[in-house]
Amino acid sequence: MADDPSSASFALLSLCLLIIALAAVVGLVIQRRRLQRAVREPLELIETVTTSIAQGAVSARILLPEGADPSVAQAATAVNRLADRAAHDIEEMRRLERVRSEFIANVSHELRTPIFSVQGYLETLLDGAMDDPEVAIPFLEKAYLNAMRLNVLLNDLIDISRIESGELKFSFRYFDVVDLISELVHTMEIRARQANVTVSFTHDESRSVYGDKERLSQVLTNLLDNAIKYNVDGGRVDIVTRSADGGVHIEIADTGIGIPDQHLSRIFERFYRVDKDRSRAVGGTGLGLAIVKHILEAHHAHVELTSRAGKGTTISFTLRAGEQF
Ligand SMILES: Nc1ncnc2c1ncn2[C@@H]1O[C@H](COP(=O)(O)OP(=O)(O)OP(=O)(O)O)[C@@H](O)[C@H]1O
Ligand SMILES: [Mg+2]
Repeated sequence: MADDPSSASFALLSLCLLIIALAAVVGLVIQRRRLQRAVREPLELIETVTTSIAQGAVSARILLPEGADPSVAQAATAVNRLADRAAHDIEEMRRLERVRSEFIANVSHELRTPIFSVQGYLETLLDGAMDDPEVAIPFLEKAYLNAMRLNVLLNDLIDISRIESGELKFSFRYFDVVDLISELVHTMEIRARQANVTVSFTHDESRSVYGDKERLSQVLTNLLDNAIKYNVDGGRVDIVTRSADGGVHIEIADTGIGIPDQHLSRIFERFYRVDKDRSRAVGGTGLGLAIVKHILEAHHAHVELTSRAGKGTTISFTLRAGEQF
């Protein structure tokens, strides 16, 4: 029976079938393991990371192991990109929130100083100082000056918020910038004389520019005001305009106190002042240059500022002569 050929071939066939079945099982196990490594584990990882991102860990990212299925890897890349974007937006929101609260703190501080002064002077007057003209008049003058300061500050604040929110509309037209500067120099003559600062203005034949005359007048007024305010006794302010490529180049140079290097990068920030006490004493709130920069940006004019502490400051920019910026 044992050497019956049909039973031998049956045994062989069974063995073959067993081996095939075993191979199939092993293949299935390997396949399942591979699927687990390529798809299931990465998907679990994606789920874990997205859950932690949703819970606030915005810096978490999916780092898939080698051999992940390409479509799963693609999904992970998309999730990572989304997380990058969300992290960037959140950082920007935080930055804006910081800027906003700093702005409010600065505004409250700047408003408080003149309001308290006005209040203090008026209280002293009401408490009896009104009867003594020698005290009453200077106190009234001081209260008035502080009220004026509040008015300037509020106007600057309104300007800066309208400019920054894009609400301020510019009205562009052609005008004579040499005439404008001459008028401004004339207006500032008394202030310059009081500060014992000599102002000179030199220009060539080019004079017509295209821009918002009122806003540019505000720019020039602020720059001239700074050049006189931060000058020294017996100092100079030299204004020069000359024809430049496509426009008129304007330069305002002073021989004043200058700005130390470490402050230069922040000088156009709102409320930034080199010496707060000195600026405040001369009526400055640190909004002037921020407004100047915004207005000149709207004219596509880049401001150059060079300064040396103790030597002086030069500010220049070019206004376009035509409508093409
Ligand atoms: N020509 C200058 N020479 C020296 N320092 C300057 C000059 N211009 C500006 N600064 C410095 O830059 C700061 C910012 O100037 P900005 O015009 O913005 O403000 P401000 O003059 O203090 O106040 P505001 O212009 O709002 O009345 C000043 O406080 C001053 O410290
Ligand atoms: Mg100023």
